[in-house]
Amino acid sequence: MKTTASNAHSSQNSLVWSGNPHLINSKDLNKNDVLYLLRRAKFFKEQLLKIECGKIGRNEFTESVGTILAGRVAANLFYENSTRTRLSFELASKHLGMHVLNLDISKSSVQKGESLEDTGKTLAAMGVNVIVQRHSISGSCEKIAEATNHRVHVINAGEGTTEHPTQALLDLFTMLEVNPDEPELTGKKIVIVGDILHSRVASSNLILLPMFGAHICLVGPQHLLPKIANNNVEIHTNMDKAMVDADFVISVRPQFERQKEDTFGCVEEYINSYQINHERLKSAKKNVKVCAPGPINRDMEISNDVANDISLSLIERQVQNGVVIRMAVIETLCTAVKRK
Ligand code: CP
Repeated sequence: MKTTASNAHSSQNSLVWSGNPHLINSKDLNKNDVLYLLRRAKFFKEQLLKIECGKIGRNEFTESVGTILAGRVAANLFYENSTRTRLSFELASKHLGMHVLNLDISKSSVQKGESLEDTGKTLAAMGVNVIVQRHSISGSCEKIAEATNHRVHVINAGEGTTEHPTQALLDLFTMLEVNPDEPELTGKKIVIVGDILHSRVASSNLILLPMFGAHICLVGPQHLLPKIANNNVEIHTNMDKAMVDADFVISVRPQFERQKEDTFGCVEEYINSYQINHERLKSAKKNVKVCAPGPINRDMEISNDVANDISLSLIERQVQNGVVIRMAVIETLCTAVKRK
């Protein structure tokens, strides 16, 4: 039987979406929700790979996947800068057949004082189905969802220091791909290095990765570490101790734009103590893999050599997987949520 988007979807009937119309916080996802999204992302990845290796033509892809949300509208509202999240959401929406609106905040009526709520109401009135929003203030996605009376699906594309759920989903998806025979991360030690305190990626990862059995070890300068007491999380200031037997290392860059004052300290000291480089990775497991949400500061938090080492680095794979994870999220919210 020819695989179509709809029959692949129905083969997942054992998994049911919990019904949340938005993806705002990782903590709102239960494990079934996550598995549902991972399966859809896997299906989309297989379809895109089939195009790459010539097994299906672009027309065939457009006639199946490209009709799933044909004619629906996604609007990208990025109040903060972004390269990969914004473009991958745009690409994901287009792969699903949607019309995509990109609001340039610097040229929008936000500059005339229009509120977040009124911006949301305006988009809802135009018939926008999905709002993808990045904002510096935590709680902004909840605000816009309420302002539109939940008529529009809201997806958090990174908010304040608290949440970046689609990044955590794509990180999880990428790590699970490394050992395809293992459906979980049980027994895996994942070391997250850097400015954890200001990292929304680390916050979301701290919710999703332990859900799949991972043991998390946070490491960085004391003043950039959160206070967490949890059986699944260890906290270190000594990178060499933290790195022992690591299966995955996630590099989290210094979030200078979110640090309230000059709290970072001396860059040279940081590099000496916390840079991820080949020397530091010697005490990790032999097959250790390195992830980074990006953007990266080469030769600062991660050495150029490690970032370029294809036997170690999953950074480009994470970017590739970001597209299919976002396709899965958009599709699920638009098709698996029963409207009242
Ligand atoms: N990982 C991430 O959020 O990157 P961008 O800021 O480029 O979107």
